[in-house]
Amino acid sequence: MIKLKFELSIDEYDSLKELKTEDKFLLERAKNAADSAYAPYSEYYVGAALLLENGEIITANNQENAAYPSGLCAERIAVFYASTQFPEVAIKKLAISAKAKNFKIDTPVPPCGACRQVLAEYETKQKNKIEIILMGESGKIQIIQGIETLLPLMFHAEELKK
Ligand code: THU
Repeated sequence: MIKLKFELSIDEYDSLKELKTEDKFLLERAKNAADSAYAPYSEYYVGAALLLENGEIITANNQENAAYPSGLCAERIAVFYASTQFPEVAIKKLAISAKAKNFKIDTPVPPCGACRQVLAEYETKQKNKIEIILMGESGKIQIIQGIETLLPLMFHAEELKK
């Protein structure tokens, strides 16, 4: 038996002032998107903003439904929409922010497992890493280079061909 070890690294910033203007702007767009989320059941509002290789910015937020599983996360709506509108354009960055009705979110909010798997698919397709920028309503900012950090041992399309 051997132990396989993995090293993950995340860049953490204390303040928005330390960020590149482009990253700050993208986070701002994600925060604004969260404001108009349709989340009457969880009262948890997530915003996502994608920066595409062609400079286009796509924003989305979570959409809930009385039949709970029919709703969808902000990240997947953003990525699916990007793929429908710009199927051949790579995703450079994804900023995610969240707020809640009944409490303050002061830590970065990472994407859920299903969103990580979907992001992994597009990252594999485009053969370039997606930078993920995370922030709550306030507090520290985390920047992650590529989905593998969030989803080690991910399921790849190649597994289907073995
Ligand atoms: N949510 C997202 O939009 N993204 C995530 O990565 C985690 C959760 C949404 C789904 C649901 O509408 C609400 O947040 C509470 O789970």
